[in-house]
Amino acid sequence: MAAFLQMNIRLNSIKIVPGRYSSLTDHQFRAPYRIRCAAASPGKKRYNIALLPGDGIGPEVISVAKNVLQKAGSLEGLEFDFQEMPVGGAALDLVGVPMPEETFTAAKQSDAILLGAIGGYKWDKNEKHLRPEMALFYLRRDLKVFANLRPATVLPQLIDASTLKKEVAEGVDMMIVRELTGGIYFGEPRGIKINENGEEVGISTEIYAAHEIDRIARVAFETARKRRGKLCSVDKANVLDASILWRKRVTALASEYPDVELSHMYVDNAAMQLIRDPKQFDTIVTNNIFGDILSDEASMITGSIGMLPSASLGESGPGLFEPIHGSAPDIAGQDKANPLATILSAAMLLKYGLGEEKAAKRIEDAVVDALNKGFRTGDIYSPGNKLVGCKEMGEEVLKSVESKVPATV
Ligand SMILES: NC(=O)c1ccc[n+]([C@@H]2O[C@H](COP(=O)([O-])OP(=O)(O)OC[C@H]3O[C@@H](n4cnc5c(N)ncnc54)[C@H](O)[C@@H]3O)[C@@H](O)[C@H]2O)c1
Repeated sequence: MAAFLQMNIRLNSIKIVPGRYSSLTDHQFRAPYRIRCAAASPGKKRYNIALLPGDGIGPEVISVAKNVLQKAGSLEGLEFDFQEMPVGGAALDLVGVPMPEETFTAAKQSDAILLGAIGGYKWDKNEKHLRPEMALFYLRRDLKVFANLRPATVLPQLIDASTLKKEVAEGVDMMIVRELTGGIYFGEPRGIKINENGEEVGISTEIYAAHEIDRIARVAFETARKRRGKLCSVDKANVLDASILWRKRVTALASEYPDVELSHMYVDNAAMQLIRDPKQFDTIVTNNIFGDILSDEASMITGSIGMLPSASLGESGPGLFEPIHGSAPDIAGQDKANPLATILSAAMLLKYGLGEEKAAKRIEDAVVDALNKGFRTGDIYSPGNKLVGCKEMGEEVLKSVESKVPATV
């Protein structure tokens, strides 16, 4: 197993890539591809990274995270070939669709994708298929990244930022594994239809095939195995048939992972337990909609949405790495965004996407170091610390990456 951690190491590779979007017109998007040779320097490994900054604070946090990724990588003998492409509202403005084919091709051909955020007021009234957020659906679906890993860790430096009591929040360290490409968000039948009484009805279908449950459960068992060996599967098996099958398949797989302690919990109880006693959780696995809600709830325990990274992985192909926050249009362009979620997403890219754990550890350590030195963006600021903007926080993390001794994993 562990195909989900498959590495895509391409050394001295020749790749076919589209031109850069900054100079692209609609016509140019259809122009013939050019061929680029990506050769690594002697003794170095080279990776192709697709950068999708997106909208709002996306470009600000991506620019900072790119520098940190480059520096941490270079200290571990890694070279990156970055290719920046438009997505979401930026792509709508440029070529009229939220996910241009060329952006998808570049993402698909890369070794890993780092995405900022998508969406904004400007496009809020667009028809559904022309909303920026559709790009995320297309990207996840077409890359077949079915496993979404979202860590929620309360750092001791930020304990005061949690809305929970200190003794409840202290020491929380969990990973939520959310199924990302199935369930009610994609199930058929769906849509708004007219019923036999002539009344409008909205239909969404929660549906899971056995193989979809098995593959996400395996990712979760493998993840729990590398953590504290505890896996809690969250469902609604007292009501939903899809959950009954979910529980049956997860239970059956447990015999393959005797070192992992499996438990089950109904989602309503899980929502309560996350607030009552979050420390009880190590790894949680759940379906698409429950994972969407519970991971946002868990993120609040840590204090700020600006701190939380995520990884979306498939069985093969590049993984998608992005902060969990949105484009924060209320603070966009003001140098107020917290870039740490995106920087930590870059660390997840190195660790889960490329298998470069040492470089990942350099970034994780540098983030802790910058926080230890008291640097805080507005969202995590508390009196006695030094208030900095997005760029300065990035510079401080860069300094810490440079100054730390080589990471041991
Ligand atoms: N993955 C994504 O790209 C994604 C996820 C969620 C929402 N969105 C989109 O983002 C737009 C705004 O949505 P929203 O306001 O509901 O959610 P949001 O996450 O963008 O913002 C919620 C609040 O958190 C703050 N915030 C978010 N990230 C921050 C950061 N890094 N540093 C400091 N503060 C931060 C914002 O200023 C805002 O007050 C919408 O168009 C929505 O559809 C995109």
